[in-house]
Amino acid sequence: MHPALHLHLCPGARLLTEGEDWLIVRGADSVLRHRGSGPAARCLLQTLAGSGGRADALMTQAQATEPEVMGASLYYLLMALEQRGLLAYGLDQDGRRLATLEPMTPGFRALAPEVDAAASYRLSRFAALSRDGEATLVDCPLGHARLRLHDGRLAALVGLLARPQTAAGLADAALDLDPDTVAGLLRLLLSLPAIFPCDDAGLLPEDHDPALRQWEAHDLRFHARSRMGRHDYPLGATFRFVDDLPHAPAIKPAGAGARIALPQPDAGSTGPDFFAVVEARRSLRQPGAQPLTLAQLGHLLWHVARVQQHRPADPEDPRHYAATLRPVAGGGAMHELELYLTVTRCRGLEPALYRYDPLTHALEWITAPSAESAGLVRDTMRAAAMETPPDVVITLAARVARMSWKYESMAYAAILKHVGVLYQQCYLVATALGLSPCAIGAGHSDRFAAAVGTGYYEETSVGELALSGPPDAL
Ligand SMILES: Cc1cc2nc3c(=O)[nH]c(=O)nc-3n(C[C@H](O)[C@H](O)[C@H](O)COP(=O)(O)O)c2cc1C
Repeated sequence: MHPALHLHLCPGARLLTEGEDWLIVRGADSVLRHRGSGPAARCLLQTLAGSGGRADALMTQAQATEPEVMGASLYYLLMALEQRGLLAYGLDQDGRRLATLEPMTPGFRALAPEVDAAASYRLSRFAALSRDGEATLVDCPLGHARLRLHDGRLAALVGLLARPQTAAGLADAALDLDPDTVAGLLRLLLSLPAIFPCDDAGLLPEDHDPALRQWEAHDLRFHARSRMGRHDYPLGATFRFVDDLPHAPAIKPAGAGARIALPQPDAGSTGPDFFAVVEARRSLRQPGAQPLTLAQLGHLLWHVARVQQHRPADPEDPRHYAATLRPVAGGGAMHELELYLTVTRCRGLEPALYRYDPLTHALEWITAPSAESAGLVRDTMRAAAMETPPDVVITLAARVARMSWKYESMAYAAILKHVGVLYQQCYLVATALGLSPCAIGAGHSDRFAAAVGTGYYEETSVGELALSGPPDAL
């Protein structure tokens, strides 16, 4: 069993005693209970929880403590650990650790068999290399493990696997690395899996799979990392910056630009039947003859994004933050999305770029029409195949740190969900007001940052919506 690999318990696994029993726990997901353990099993488990060792040495050491023990029972104990994803596998050469494979979930079943000398292997297009501390991390959303490379030469070998390689061919390219080490690296990469055997045309199984062919690498990686199931990174409301960084305010501080108060709907005013609005909602791309009015714009923003309630932070509780309630739902009541309006035609409002202030229900003047703001309109027209500019392009921009201060692994995914929530609210309110809305799938975030003067990383555009006045009657 894994003669060349150094076995030890996964970083997250702990060895606990329970009466005469041994109990190994790994997080909440995976547990191995070994009942009635004798000295050999105890020795094996304790060594695995400590420095670890090669399988043969571990067995020899354990059997020395209890000569009558059956070797098979120790072997099955190792197998049981492996099948629960509780073992990590180190690749050593000349006494140095070169790489470590760490299962992340019990979805990691077992190491792949030894490499086939006749086979060619190639890197999956879903695999990715990144830096983690001083290690190079190789992972792949097709699997449930990560591989830490502690030696840059191995990272170079991973790079060579962009083209099909046999174990021997790769060993020829590997300066100072034993062929056994290269074969061991290939085996660990196969186990992730980040490489696969390929055919004569260099095609991998993923190239023949209709479902995988239609995933882009960045989408699958984002999906796997922002959901539970394929990794062991913290996910959810972890507040990881609570002691380190102040939380962004619930409401973006006002800028210096002139403010234009927006009309509000009359108190008690009613609209069309809700279900009739739901039934009538459509994407309307063609602006009609009548421009949008300031009152319509004010009413739309009032029913979508204004602050209904402002809840201040509790200074006694560092995790408690200022929040707002608005007509749209928002995870954690964060409401990290800012609305920017590039106005080309609106009765009662000068064409310009504005920001909506949801607290005072006012527009804040940002800039006169510019090459960049014209670009935002042009991008929208192209995306929606519009021949005439919409009256307003509403750009949704996320103050990202407002979310990532609290949420880990899923902050950006939640932001995109909020975009969907806001889109639908805009659609319904615009329909109720008899206006022409159309959501837009992709905009230009650098152009937005240049137009508004925000930092790309602080506040970045994540969605757009074209809005015009009433459609012309058919
Ligand atoms: C998230 C999202 C993105 C969209 N992106 C675009 C787009 O970029 N261009 C466009 O013309 N329509 C876009 N639309 C509108 C859809 O094309 C439209 O909803 C769909 O054709 C169904 O038509 P309906 O909205 O009238 O029911 C988008 C809609 C949504 C919800």
